Amino acid sequence: MSGRKPLILGIGGTIRSGSSTERALQCSLRAVEARGGETRLLGGEFLAKLPIFNPANLEPTAEQQILADAVRAADGVIVASPGYHGSISGVIKNALDSLEVLRDDPRPYFTDRAVGSIITADGWQAAGTTLTTLRSIIHALRGWPTPFGAALNATSNLFDAEGACIEAKDAWQLSTVGEQVFDFAQMKVGK
Ligand SMILES: Cc1cc2nc3c(=O)[nH]c(=O)nc-3n(C[C@H](O)[C@H](O)[C@H](O)COP(=O)(O)O)c2cc1C
Repeated sequence: MSGRKPLILGIGGTIRSGSSTERALQCSLRAVEARGGETRLLGGEFLAKLPIFNPANLEPTAEQQILADAVRAADGVIVASPGYHGSISGVIKNALDSLEVLRDDPRPYFTDRAVGSIITADGWQAAGTTLTTLRSIIHALRGWPTPFGAALNATSNLFDAEGACIEAKDAWQLSTVGEQVFDFAQMKVGK
């Protein structure tokens, strides 16, 4: 056993201040920390600085380099997106497109890592379609989508002033995603 703490990277949120998607991601990362993992968050403010990915130019900008290095270092990943028009948001898709710079790595994209999904939407229909889409993308990026994905209905307030879930079922969803990513990562790190 290596004894190293698994590092779980959170990618997600919206540009909006107080993003419920980013708060949901923070809840999952806290569940990882409660299990003994280390975490890092690349939230909406950071993701908004990524240029629109240009496949003709694989020379990364400073922000693309930070994202690529963060994924390289991660033992597991959690991606959180709002449902925008029935799918993931452009900001999240652009971040995932930007992982193309990892194409020729010895461990390309999300290879060998569990990747959890969190979706917020104002209705269950978009929550379901967006979750399915995100999991398909994770498969395409060679990651292992966790068995459970969190879908939160954001029509009512989801979090209290401290950022904790108001509803116990939402807290359970977000901690389950964090725990499943962490447990898979620990199996790989401990080898
Ligand atoms: C451009 C846009 C498109 C959206 N499309 C949908 C949609 O198709 N279905 C839905 O249920 N909610 C939709 N929403 C609502 C968001 O998914 C929801 O408010 C989400 O929780 C926002 O996340 P945030 O609090 O992190 O900004 C949309 C919101 C925006 C801004």
